[in-house]
Amino acid sequence: MERTLVLVKPDGVQRGLVGEILARFERKGLKLVGLRLLEVDLDLAERHYAVHAGKHFYDGLIGFITSGPVAAVALEGPDAIATVRRMVGRTMPNEAEPGTIRGDLGISGLRNLIHASDAPETAVTELDLWFGADALVDYERAIDAWVVAEEPERG
Ligand code: PPS
Repeated sequence: MERTLVLVKPDGVQRGLVGEILARFERKGLKLVGLRLLEVDLDLAERHYAVHAGKHFYDGLIGFITSGPVAAVALEGPDAIATVRRMVGRTMPNEAEPGTIRGDLGISGLRNLIHASDAPETAVTELDLWFGADALVDYERAIDAWVVAEEPERG
């Protein structure tokens, strides 16, 4: 089972799309294990996007993520990191496939609505940064037997 971080960026919050975006992940079968609405200060923004420091779009990225409230969401499920990335779609909304969040809900450049962790190591670091080690919620869902198939025996 994997956990991953999703951020609904300021454009998604301002457009009232947090519910629509979360609903897609919930309908997929992913389990919500963390949820916060927060203003992002410069320190958090710079730590989150440290890997992009020095790139031509870095200042725009920092300015955008600090421009309004952000919804931080932690999701859990089998292969959650890659599954969520596929549902998010390509970086630029005008190139993202229909059916993806960016492809269906976005139309232009930086206004791409959502961030999602891109690898297991990134997910661990980002979940710690946005939620801290103890803030995620462990619980069982009664419906999980109908959502998550048992791994077939190998051998
Ligand atoms: S990279 O260099 O391949 O790792 O970049 P990429 O994964 O495509 O994007 C990293 C984040 O930067 C944002 N981005 C941009 N913002 C503004 N202008 C331009 N040209 C641009 N290119 C990429 C992109 O939305 C990614 O943000 P997050 O929040 O991580 O999705």
